[in-house]
Amino acid sequence: MNKRKILVTSALPYANGDIHLGHLMEAIQTDIWVRLQKLQGHDCIWVCADDAHGTAIMLSAETQDITPEELIDRVNRQHQQDFADFLIGFDNFYTTHSEENRVFSESMYQTMDANGHIQRRSIRQLFDPEKNLFLADRYIVGTCPKCHAERQYGDNCEACGSTYNPSELISPRSAISGAVPIEKESEHLFFDLPIFKDMLKVWTRSGALQDQVANKLSEWLDQDLQQWDISRDAPYFGFEIPNAPGKYFYVWVDAPIGYMASFKNYCDREGLDFDSYWLPDSDTELYHFIGKDIINFHTLFWPAVLTSSGYRTPTAVFAHGFLTVDGTKMSKSRGTFVNARTYLDHLDPEYLRYYLAAKLSSGIDDLDLNLEDFALRVNADLVGKVINIASRCAGFIHKGFDGMLAENPDNPDLLFEIQSIKAQVTEHFDSREYGKAIRLIMAQADKANQYINEKEPWVLAKADKQAAELHAICSTGINAFRLLLCYLKPVLPALTEKAEAFLNIDPLVWKDIDFLLTKHRINKFQPLITRVEPDKIKAMINATRMHSEPPISLEAKSHFKTEIPFEDFAKIDMRIARIIEAKHVEGADKLLCLKLDLGQDSEGQPILRQVFSGIKSAYQPDDLLGKLTVVVANLQARKMKFGISEGMILAAGQGEKDIWLLEPDSGATPGLRVT
Ligand code: MSP
Ligand code: ZN
Repeated sequence: MNKRKILVTSALPYANGDIHLGHLMEAIQTDIWVRLQKLQGHDCIWVCADDAHGTAIMLSAETQDITPEELIDRVNRQHQQDFADFLIGFDNFYTTHSEENRVFSESMYQTMDANGHIQRRSIRQLFDPEKNLFLADRYIVGTCPKCHAERQYGDNCEACGSTYNPSELISPRSAISGAVPIEKESEHLFFDLPIFKDMLKVWTRSGALQDQVANKLSEWLDQDLQQWDISRDAPYFGFEIPNAPGKYFYVWVDAPIGYMASFKNYCDREGLDFDSYWLPDSDTELYHFIGKDIINFHTLFWPAVLTSSGYRTPTAVFAHGFLTVDGTKMSKSRGTFVNARTYLDHLDPEYLRYYLAAKLSSGIDDLDLNLEDFALRVNADLVGKVINIASRCAGFIHKGFDGMLAENPDNPDLLFEIQSIKAQVTEHFDSREYGKAIRLIMAQADKANQYINEKEPWVLAKADKQAAELHAICSTGINAFRLLLCYLKPVLPALTEKAEAFLNIDPLVWKDIDFLLTKHRINKFQPLITRVEPDKIKAMINATRMHSEPPISLEAKSHFKTEIPFEDFAKIDMRIARIIEAKHVEGADKLLCLKLDLGQDSEGQPILRQVFSGIKSAYQPDDLLGKLTVVVANLQARKMKFGISEGMILAAGQGEKDIWLLEPDSGATPGLRVT
């Protein structure tokens, strides 16, 4: 076999938050892939790190009254422990705030500059005069210039969907200090991305990307590329740019360079040759596992930066979708934004590894962790199928045959069939179609169980616990179990280790699938994994809900809008309306277009209104038909991007799936005044 030299990375988690189930999905996906390569005997190294720089980390340390260094050290230890407890086998987990990373960032920048790929020009930005700090878009809050919705962050309005320049916000405030920002000019450094357009067009079509990703990028690459602003003004937690006092590398510059720095740190420790992995003529493979939200950074900026600074480009970038829980985005208030540690306090990490593996594919679709299905699936497959094979055979081997397996199995065809899916299973794991691999493996587990059901060894044992046939049957079962476990080893490393102890064998590797275990003494069977208890899942969700932090302080300060006199309130005419039509609005993420029945006017004519409402996250159009709602009936009609809105419906809830209207049987009728 050709021994491949492979370097793998997964995205660097930010150092100002806990590891959560979303991060773990990425780590588990990568871990399975890396373990597969190692089991096959390839030379595969996986490095990661914390992403330790940026304004958010600086501010977070400040609120905790510690230095950023203290913060990132503490978080780094927690992250490493969390990952280790989920059996995530990084070869190195480092930090971007390292000497290696500083050296690479500086020298790569200097090469880029010497090559004429860095531009300098002044830009105007909003500045917080109290904190003396330029404000990134997400740190500016104000009233939407288009629809006047209050408390909108950055450069787009959640209420009406319009986008604008943050300086256009009405009464803008710094979200950090509450101060009124001023506009200020400063010089920034830009990476000349447009120069790399042709190179990127070729690279993105070179097979390095998933089709979906390549297609999206080619749309981008058909338009003009912008220069990339790579500098941030002090104060900033990061690396100062050489010969540019007071200017720091934007966190997204030194974050991917952190892959190289973590690897360099590993090379120095292990005596490996860094250059043979990173220089342009390298014969090694380089893969980045990332989430779909950071595709641009890895498929446009990063390959261009590498090329500009004299390094190789990645062999491939593997993007995955997002983890949702019970069909919605992970949410603190629902208790589904589960941290690694909270999960571990209640459940076995291998349950999650197995469940995610069973559902992962190579695309960028989101993956749903359905908590009910999670328990059912893990119990049915792992406990009910795989472990069951061993637990039904092992006892007889001990009672009748002193723990020795027979020389010849009773059903070599069954075992041969299990062995013969090896190429397919390998291919599916290697192409990140883990769900397909798991289905193949479980189909074989079903066959093995059927075989044992048919042979009924317990009946034979009653008649003669030393019958040769009983010996051969149970030895077949144990061999089937061993083969299945070997296939599952990339997914379930701890379970496999326990099984290896039970089978009394050396650690399994991929080529062991080609052999059977005969005339070999096994150990006493111990339960290898317990069932998922649904109560533990509930406890985990409750614990998450309890720990969920209160909203950030600025939100709290401006929790309620400005007080209004009673006369203003009295001007609002609120009526009950029935939703008689509801449809999607093309191009709108959050809006539905509703037709409302507000009863009849004095002449008995129906009063109908069209209203746009941002409740799409909670309702399918069909679910709304016939529902009642309170509507502000005398709101001036507004022209929105998608049409005229003649009123406003009132609903309450946390957002997302929790937005409540009135139920049809609430006793209200269209037109009724709300008092
Ligand atoms: N620090 C950057 C990455 C820099 S890489 C040079 C970052 N950090 S992150 O902590 O926000 O995310 C780390 C990884 O976790 C990203 O690949 C991101 O897509 C992934 N995920 C974060 N939440 C996720 C889910 N809910 N589901 C799946 N993956 C998710 O981005
Ligand atoms: Zn708006």
